[in-house]
Amino acid sequence: MRQKIVAGNWKMNCDIAQTYELLDALKENELNDDIVVMVAPPFTNLQSANQALIDSTILVAAQNMHQSANGAFTGEVSASMLRSVGVETVILGHSERRAYFYEDNALLAKKVTAALENKMTAIYCFGEELEDRKTGKHLDLVERQLKEGLFHIAIGDWKQIILAYEPVWAIGTGETASPEQAQEMHAFIRKIVAKSYSEEIANKVSILYGGSVKPNNASEIFGKPDVDGGLIGGAALDAESFMAIVNAF
Ligand code: PGA
Repeated sequence: MRQKIVAGNWKMNCDIAQTYELLDALKENELNDDIVVMVAPPFTNLQSANQALIDSTILVAAQNMHQSANGAFTGEVSASMLRSVGVETVILGHSERRAYFYEDNALLAKKVTAALENKMTAIYCFGEELEDRKTGKHLDLVERQLKEGLFHIAIGDWKQIILAYEPVWAIGTGETASPEQAQEMHAFIRKIVAKSYSEEIANKVSILYGGSVKPNNASEIFGKPDVDGGLIGGAALDAESFMAIVNAF
């Protein structure tokens, strides 16, 4: 059985007071042991979030990190710094990082390596733009994002990897991939992991879908056999919506 996961990517939202408020509201809910629930607040709130969740099974993830261990990289945060405040999971390659901060597959490969070296779990994000899909290039593009950014890792490292397929055209737009489109892509992703590594790894890795997942569409998307959960943006900022998505399995 693959691990089911719902992760909330808060992006650049929630100051410390709002972080406590949202976490308090989330903590009021009974969680199903079968589902890993994570939240990814901004860097400034990671340590506080971890402390606030000390008596909860909700995990705290970072939204990004630098690939170097330390040094003259003004404004950046390293894997060991995240570890030092108890954060063991990091989102890498989110489409907003790729688009606004020019992160490409080669850079992301280094970030993945740094995460693994620091014994962190990486949620590796990827997905096509609308133009790629319209021109029928989406499968090739996703394959390239995986091969160039991730497939340098050793077989044994896959237990520290979560995949997140997020079609760019569905992020924050209110437009979701149909459950069938998500399933088609997730099955394709599993196929290329199997080809490059093994069937066993392909069958074990959790693949999340992200892009306008809401309480009203989550169960249909999560119901597809190769969809193991979601990476949630906007709807993760409201405790009720986020918990409705967590409970949509
Ligand atoms: P969204 O964002 O749910 O607001 O579309 C998803 C994401 O960017 O991870």
